[in-house]
Amino acid sequence: MSTVSGASTPSQVERFVVLAAAVLESTPMEIVTTRSAFRAHLDAVRSDRRTVGLVPTMGALHEGHLSLARAAAAECDVVALTIFVNPLQFGAGEDLDAYPRPLERDLELAASVEVDVVFTPSVDEMYPGLQLTSVHVDGLTATMEGANRPSHFDGVATVVTKLFNLAGPCRAYFGEKDFQQLAVVRRMAIDLDQPVTVVGCPIVREPDGLALSSRNVYLTPAQRSAAAVVNRALREGAASIGAGERDRATIEAHMAAVVAAEPLAELDYAMVVDPVTLVAPDRLEPGSEVRLCTVVRFGTTRLLDNLGVGVA
Ligand code: PAF
Repeated sequence: MSTVSGASTPSQVERFVVLAAAVLESTPMEIVTTRSAFRAHLDAVRSDRRTVGLVPTMGALHEGHLSLARAAAAECDVVALTIFVNPLQFGAGEDLDAYPRPLERDLELAASVEVDVVFTPSVDEMYPGLQLTSVHVDGLTATMEGANRPSHFDGVATVVTKLFNLAGPCRAYFGEKDFQQLAVVRRMAIDLDQPVTVVGCPIVREPDGLALSSRNVYLTPAQRSAAAVVNRALREGAASIGAGERDRATIEAHMAAVVAAEPLAELDYAMVVDPVTLVAPDRLEPGSEVRLCTVVRFGTTRLLDNLGVGVA
């Protein structure tokens, strides 16, 4: 049994001021803060025979999120973007309170990519009272991020289920950067017959290869330059597969050695996994696909990245 709190959620008054400012700037974008208004809005869209593209986010929008909204706009009549920093997916000692919440800027960015409706509920609106139910996806959540952050994926699966239930039949767009999250949400939608088509979208990167992330703002300038090593390790892992290496442990050790050569970086893991089951094969089979996944720490900031590789 748990209740959910969110100490640094903006007050209703602050939220109203920000939302009103956005509306006064005469964007046609609609901003809703209640579950009932969000559900009613998208029900009305569908009764007009228009399709819905859902983009769930925790805000602090960057080009990666905007690419999801653009993909949704290309394939759906109406784009619904959600902004909600979900307390359930943060563990004790993680950055829930410090997580960036630049709501005004987020609304401007959402309007710039022609999002039609933004759903930005408070924690109390999303989790009124006791929260007795949670969604657990087995197996896929036992490895990688799940092994490091035990309740994280239950929090993600629970809030995404709530968002899917509120949004109704739609296509939902998730970034491949959180590759394990994408695999978990895909499996959940299949297993629970959720009326949602889950769409994975490519990672957006800085010129030096760093994957865009809302947490990149935590990096010091020195850590930011060193952070290029994350993607470099993956590319070197892929190059060793291209050169004929088929032993999984050898490829992982190769990626780990690349990270170890960067003094500001500390490796959490570098793994080669099956892209659907997330199981690590002993040897890579010809004709198979694998995903190279890594997490590297720079101080207290953990950076995730991954790369798909076809095995010849
Ligand atoms: O990827 C995220 O931003 C979050 O995990 C999500 C999917 C919006 C659920 O809170």
